[in-house]
Amino acid sequence: MSRIVYVNGAYVPEEDARVSIFDRGFLFGDAVYEVTSVLNGKLIDFPSHMRRLTRSLSELSMAAPAGTDELLAIHRELIARNGLSEGGVYMMVTRGAADRDFVFPPDGTQPTLVLFTQAWNEVRSPEVENGLRVAFVPDLRWGRRDIKTVQLLWPSMAKMEARRLGKDDAWLVEDGMVTEGTSNNAHIIDREGRLITRALSNSILHGTTRASVLRLADEAGLTVEERSFSCDEARAAAEAFITSAGHFVMPVTEIDDVVIGDGRPGPLTLRLRRLYMEEAARTAL
Ligand code: PDD
Repeated sequence: MSRIVYVNGAYVPEEDARVSIFDRGFLFGDAVYEVTSVLNGKLIDFPSHMRRLTRSLSELSMAAPAGTDELLAIHRELIARNGLSEGGVYMMVTRGAADRDFVFPPDGTQPTLVLFTQAWNEVRSPEVENGLRVAFVPDLRWGRRDIKTVQLLWPSMAKMEARRLGKDDAWLVEDGMVTEGTSNNAHIIDREGRLITRALSNSILHGTTRASVLRLADEAGLTVEERSFSCDEARAAAEAFITSAGHFVMPVTEIDDVVIGDGRPGPLTLRLRRLYMEEAARTAL
């Protein structure tokens, strides 16, 4: 069944949606995006996604396509029109359409705003029971990974490499240290029960789920160390997990062919997942 999508002010069937071939998102990857999870028809961590969108736009001197209230209304309208219960809403903002030029088009160029829904079923997915197997792949992305741009070719290639190796996903590695997953933040729990995850910088995306989970971990009395961890530390971890919209808190049970813990999702990981899901349900919009 065809979805109803949103393009520049109009709700249209997906096959009727049109964006210019001169759009800078298409020609230059000159665009930012957000993916917000939907559970029981409601948006998870929406204010946090909007704060990051605002920051991404500002770092790229890109105009905001609409205010936060209007964007929330569009998200809700799309969820309603598509009867979405579980899945996500993808929102993309580009610098707009203009003659192809490395110089940005003049101020006042209309940004392009596109949103669509995608249904998925994470809550009952087998990975929650079994955990993910991840491979190490070099991190060859550009240096501003804190901006959520649509330039996702390397993450996509890294994920393909992981699949070629028979794994579920890749953890990206720079200078012997793990940066993050292809589309998620990477976390380990060491044998003393400390949660270790890379500190915020330009090297990783500032995950909305990461922020909530670190706060919940702290409130639950866990020691949280925001610092880089090496591939060796990852292999030696007692537990490991990823965080993202879409996967929430997802256990990792194998890293670079090494079984983590007893090969089952770890108890602290499952506790954090439960805490996150409870809060998500409570605060969903
Ligand atoms: N990805 N790191 C990267 C590189 C990501 O692309 C993402 C999200 C995250 C986690 O951020 P958050 O918790 O705010 O979703 C970390 C989205 C889900 C995607 O590209 O589909």
